Amino acid sequence: MEKVIVFDTTLRDGEQAAGGTLNIEEKLEIARQLERLGVDIIEAGFPIASPGDFEAVRLIAKEVRRPMTCALTHAQPQAVDRAWEAIKEAKHPCIHIFLSASDIHLLHQLKKSQDEILQMARDMVARAKGYLNDVEFSPMDASRTEPAFIYRILEAVIAAGATTVNIPDTVGYATPEEFGSLIAGILANVPNIQRAVVSVHCHNDLGLAVANSLEAIRQGARQVECTVNGIGERAGNAALEEIVMALKTRGDFFNLTTDIDTTQIYKTSRLVSELTGFSIQPNKAVVGANAFRHESGIHQDGILKAPITYEIMDPTSVGIPGSMLVLGKLSGRHAFRDRLAELGYTLSDEALNRAFRAFKELADKKKEVTDRDIESLVAEELRTVAEIYHLEHVQVSCGDHSVPTATVSLRAPDGEIIADAALGAGPVDAVCKAINRLVDVPNQLTEFTVKSVTEGIDAMGEVLIRIESEGRTYSGRGADTDIIVASAKAYMNALNRLLAARKAAEGGGRSD
Ligand code: KIV
Ligand code: ZN
Repeated sequence: MEKVIVFDTTLRDGEQAAGGTLNIEEKLEIARQLERLGVDIIEAGFPIASPGDFEAVRLIAKEVRRPMTCALTHAQPQAVDRAWEAIKEAKHPCIHIFLSASDIHLLHQLKKSQDEILQMARDMVARAKGYLNDVEFSPMDASRTEPAFIYRILEAVIAAGATTVNIPDTVGYATPEEFGSLIAGILANVPNIQRAVVSVHCHNDLGLAVANSLEAIRQGARQVECTVNGIGERAGNAALEEIVMALKTRGDFFNLTTDIDTTQIYKTSRLVSELTGFSIQPNKAVVGANAFRHESGIHQDGILKAPITYEIMDPTSVGIPGSMLVLGKLSGRHAFRDRLAELGYTLSDEALNRAFRAFKELADKKKEVTDRDIESLVAEELRTVAEIYHLEHVQVSCGDHSVPTATVSLRAPDGEIIADAALGAGPVDAVCKAINRLVDVPNQLTEFTVKSVTEGIDAMGEVLIRIESEGRTYSGRGADTDIIVASAKAYMNALNRLLAARKAAEGGGRSD
């Protein structure tokens, strides 16, 4: 069977999702898991966007060994050079250049003619080619561009050395039939197309990203760009797990394969959800909590007699554990580390020690510590690696006859312990107000969600908070058996992300 190349852009387009910012440790952890998942290419980021993005791409490029590592750039000489600087230590480096192609973008955004675009595309591919062999080119907004211009631009960039040409449905506008015809047209009308891999990159604004990607593959595209859980700009990108499982489950129809180890899908999905703060809807295909749950009596009866009656995929084929393993307060460091490895985490010794201490504290409060609890603890550990302010203590007094009052102490960037107190409409409000008095970054809280990590009255509570500042959204998560403490951790996490983004943007804001 012919192979489809899986190009994962969770760390680039996925991270562009509003509120999905990841710190460097979190990106590295996801990159390691993507390598275990078996993706062919990891798009690690957009180096010119900010010094923080540059550093993340550089570290991922150094760390990842088997997959190709790719850096995104727009079509400007200094951006291409910066992409190369970030990616040059990769074992298999790749530069991905994008440039708008549709009349809508040319007229309203770039104010350039098609001939000027053609020249820029050629020049920038040639510039990247001076650094390395693998160069991908994307004519942005391709699905709203007249096909004749796409053919011209692709022919020109392939002649300049592009090894992959990627066709983006940037705004998720195409329908499967149209998008498939565009790919078929490219294969039939670009004279040198056999010298490049044809790739597709679909957005999900109309819920068609996976359908469009699969139709493009059916028409001859041999690379698909996608993200874990389908996260990404606006409504997101095509979901990796859905494309891979469609190709696998319907091998009879597509007759194509991928190198993905599908048993790693569930772990990867959980990890990305934990670290980005984007929960997975229960009915999400392949990885949603209900994806393999059967409620109706007739279905349950069928499943008991023969799973094939109502299950087209075996849950174990995507790595869904048959049962959750449980650790307790007598479990040792070894058992904890082994379980972490099985869950797909590779912590440094120092981080492992801290996570183990947190596990022991939790095991003292809670009889059984499940995989979900462990995921939550480790995600907490990764979230706090690069924090600017650290939450030391939080104390709240509240009740039906008292004014909620919170006292908070933080460790400031210079190591000093600072403390303050505030009253609030409720305990969480009081905590956030006390923190605001200390950190003093104007922001607006736009979302606050509490859910329990597992069942049971002693379960850990996980709080998700989103805040907005200067038009950007930052998410924060915190977990604790005390939901007020979890809320304080989540708020600090969101504030730290906001502060880190500001710091990273100093000397070069995002340009995407
Ligand atoms: O959606 C898009 O057009 C992109 C490009 C950078 C490929 O993400
Ligand atoms: Zn995109």
